[in-house]
Amino acid sequence: MQLLAIHGPNLNLLGSREPGLYGSASLEQINDDLRCRAGSLGVEVDCFQSNHEGALVDRIHDARGQVDGILINAGAYTHTSIAIRDALLAVAIPYVELHLSNVHTREPFRHHSFLADRAVGVICGFGAGSYGLALEGLVAHLRAQP
Ligand code: DQA
Repeated sequence: MQLLAIHGPNLNLLGSREPGLYGSASLEQINDDLRCRAGSLGVEVDCFQSNHEGALVDRIHDARGQVDGILINAGAYTHTSIAIRDALLAVAIPYVELHLSNVHTREPFRHHSFLADRAVGVICGFGAGSYGLALEGLVAHLRAQP
């Protein structure tokens, strides 16, 4: 099983970016942990980060026919990007939306997601732990498919 983890804008700054909100783990540490957990589950995960909406759309397109499932923390694009929603629906790859912070306890503009209603599931609020939980959920979902 081949998975893709997509990290959106500003997540390259994890570790130093608002640590009270997002924790102290760097993106590299999160990716290392994801790969390690994926290995334990017997799956592979490729990790991609961009600050650019079009680059995220392109990476999703490239996943078509190559990837069984996507973990996506689209960062602020979660709340704004119809293009990323359309790309995910176009490639028809099951995806889990995740966030480090609990977006529902934050500003009202973070309460809406353009991705959530078509996701397999949504995980938020567990800091870096959200990634592992999302991975487990996605793998369990894919394995349950006939
Ligand atoms: C975030 C939440 C978003 O609202 C925010 O724009 C981010 C990070 C999170 O992981 O908590 O960049 O996706």
